[in-house]
Amino acid sequence: MKAAYLKKYGPADTAFEIRDGIQPIPKPNQVLISVEAFGLNFADVMARLGLYKAAPPLPAILGYDVVGTISEIGSEVRTLKIGDRVTALTRFGGYAQYAVAENNVVFKIPETLTAGVAVALATQYSTAYFLSHTMANLQENDKVLIHAAAGGVGTALTQMALHKECIVFGTCSSPEKMDYLWKNGVHHPINHKTEDFTEAVRKALGKKGLDAIFDPVGGTSVKKGYRLLGAGGRLFSFGVSSMNQTKSIFGKLRVAYQFGFYHPLQFLSNSKGIVGINILKVGEANPEKLSRAMEAVVQMTEEGILKPHVGGEFSVDNLAEAHAFLESRKSMGKIVVKW
Ligand SMILES: NC(=O)c1ccc[n+]([C@@H]2O[C@H](COP(=O)([O-])OP(=O)(O)OC[C@H]3O[C@@H](n4cnc5c(N)ncnc54)[C@H](OP(=O)(O)O)[C@@H]3O)[C@@H](O)[C@H]2O)c1
Repeated sequence: MKAAYLKKYGPADTAFEIRDGIQPIPKPNQVLISVEAFGLNFADVMARLGLYKAAPPLPAILGYDVVGTISEIGSEVRTLKIGDRVTALTRFGGYAQYAVAENNVVFKIPETLTAGVAVALATQYSTAYFLSHTMANLQENDKVLIHAAAGGVGTALTQMALHKECIVFGTCSSPEKMDYLWKNGVHHPINHKTEDFTEAVRKALGKKGLDAIFDPVGGTSVKKGYRLLGAGGRLFSFGVSSMNQTKSIFGKLRVAYQFGFYHPLQFLSNSKGIVGINILKVGEANPEKLSRAMEAVVQMTEEGILKPHVGGEFSVDNLAEAHAFLESRKSMGKIVVKW
């Protein structure tokens, strides 16, 4: 089979090589998928830059989400069969013509679902569901701030918060993304390049605080966000995209320091807190929680409640271009790469 290998850390145009690899063999609880397309996630950019600790050593096949057809099933798999069209979460190995996935994170999808929409559901929508439904348990009229709201997870979080009838603030970095936020239903879009997000939120809310903040940026963004929370509010820290600006240990320490320092007594007396989420760890410890999240988003999409946006479709020959696009901060929604 062919696979896109990450052969070298650094810029997208010199990082990948498509070459022959060994087709994986499914374990008893896994299925083998003949991959039609795979999705990109921001973690892939971090892995390409050598900034993602959990990534396999070089040469590595990255990739968390695939869409395709089951070509082989493990001996313990009962609910899926050869020939089913599925979307699946892979723990790496997705940038290939064949990938294996645990059967509890493989879901049947209709033939009519486009490849881009299907891969958006795997990592980005299931992460957003776990954040907004399982962890935050958003309620009607909750005031919610979503950072990087035009991105893959941000688009999903927005749609889920709106479905829960929350009041949604969203940040982004360009006028084009501001239009996109309006179209996705964000009540208070904020261009963080031209306006400080804390001032924009305070202007709209006065003395009231936020009930939930979803922060994949990290550093000062978390420190500033924490101050905006009201009693009962929580900040969900689920990424450090601001760290991609630096490779040096000092730069990383600076970002770590910028998060701020907190004591549980502060959380207790102010009745607010910060929660860290890593969906890979959740999937390892409680696979059924990830499985439930994925099942829910596939169903909500079929019911028309969620509408993933595909902001870029690339051929695998243009994988470097797709990666550079995601890194450039110009992409909106999901990016899909087709074989
Ligand atoms: N913890 C978990 O389990 C988990 C799971 C999935 C994703 N994530 C995290 O969620 C975030 C979003 O992932 P995604 O795949 O949906 O990507 P994405 O949001 O589509 O793209 C990344 C966005 O992050 C924003 N950003 C902020 N600082 C940046 C910087 N220094 N460099 C580049 N972009 C920056 C940009 O939005 P603006 O330009 O509009 O600010 C950019 O468009 C990432 O941080 C990812 O690691 C975490």
